[in-house]
Amino acid sequence: MALPPSEEVAPAALQFPQGFLWGVSTSAHQVEGGTRNQWSWWEERGNIRSGEACGLACDWWNRAEQDFDLAAQLGLNALRLSVEWSRIEPRPGEWDGGALERYRGMLSALRQRNLLPIVCLHHFTHPLWFEDAGAFTARGAPEVFERFVRRVLAELGDLCQMWVTFNEPNVYSGLGYVMGEFPPGRTGDLRGAILALSGMGAAHARAYRAIHELQPEAQVGFAHNYLVLEPARRLLPLDGWVAALQRKLFDDAFLQLLARGRLPFPFHLADGSFPDPVQGACDFVGLNVYSRMRVAFDLRFPGQLFGRVFVPHDVPQGDHGVQAPYGEAYPEAIVEAVEAAVPLGKPIYILENGVPDAQDRIRPWLLVNAIRQVHKLIAAGRDVRGYFHWTLTDNFEWTHGWRLRFGLFALDPETQRRHPRPSAALYSQIARGNSLPAEFIRQYSSPPG
Ligand code: FCB
Repeated sequence: MALPPSEEVAPAALQFPQGFLWGVSTSAHQVEGGTRNQWSWWEERGNIRSGEACGLACDWWNRAEQDFDLAAQLGLNALRLSVEWSRIEPRPGEWDGGALERYRGMLSALRQRNLLPIVCLHHFTHPLWFEDAGAFTARGAPEVFERFVRRVLAELGDLCQMWVTFNEPNVYSGLGYVMGEFPPGRTGDLRGAILALSGMGAAHARAYRAIHELQPEAQVGFAHNYLVLEPARRLLPLDGWVAALQRKLFDDAFLQLLARGRLPFPFHLADGSFPDPVQGACDFVGLNVYSRMRVAFDLRFPGQLFGRVFVPHDVPQGDHGVQAPYGEAYPEAIVEAVEAAVPLGKPIYILENGVPDAQDRIRPWLLVNAIRQVHKLIAAGRDVRGYFHWTLTDNFEWTHGWRLRFGLFALDPETQRRHPRPSAALYSQIARGNSLPAEFIRQYSSPPG
């Protein structure tokens, strides 16, 4: 029997390994409402570029369970959330039993719905007293963080075994100390950024050891943001040089800290020489992957290692951020990110991936093709064990406020009503079948024009 020419061979459904985690990711400040941390302080001083207020956010403090129902109805089997340090330890060494009780309620509710909880211990926010003391640039910070982590483990450890210490130390330090977009709002302070990065590395390592002491069977990792940074003009060596330098700091430094125990040259010269050994201190690597950006050599950007970072006009994109494009929607970024994490030799989870897209114009394409890349990696022998979409319902997107809508469900923050976007049903079908259907691959083979 003659086979049809290869381009006419219909794609087959792509089956995922048994036990693969299909989840969504969220973070406390973005969903709970009413949080009092360094971000609420930042907001009160008029620093949210969209001009909006976090307010009730998704009102999870009162009704997270309704959203857990939605996640369960989609057929997901995991959900990543974070606990808000400022609620749990409102003053140094003082613990709020009511807050811990509420988190117990949330974790129990997840387990009742067969949603495996993954708890992140620091997702960009912390108490103002910790910020005022210099946050992670301060010498004693790792010990202070460890004290908090021990308390969380003592109170919630029976309900969770998978822990993410930090969300995106590279984004936290880059946007807080170089770009001025996150508190403490510094611009061009590369030394501060490197100090914060190494301080978080040390705090991570202490937390890793403390968690294992209290819960030997725990799985402890971190969530690393990986951004594809490519030279704008391939033939211009200076563009290639600054793109490589930015990659070294943004994409590679934290992974190298874990793999080799120190930041790469020359950045280790500015680190805080925190004494905690960091090498090998993780059981899995979490990757948050969104975009591709281009980098052009530009003397006007010394704080960004002389690289101007931008998004070309003619690439697939979701909605525009408040002042600049959010980024190119680039499913292949997952491949580059996973390959960068492979040298650590640990299981990998895609802990965030998504696109801001109020109209759900490009999300179905992004979702299908990102998941397709994950399958390709698994087929090539990479140990990728889960995919978590960012996010379940629209939430308060940091400095972009309500302007960027990442939810599988649209949320009206006034009425707190949720409406599924078409992508919710698409993702549900994938998660329920533990496979990517062939018709999705065909239907979404190219990005919408
Ligand atoms: C990630 C953050 C998350 C959210 C998404 C869109 O970098 O971890 O809180 O802002 O981007």
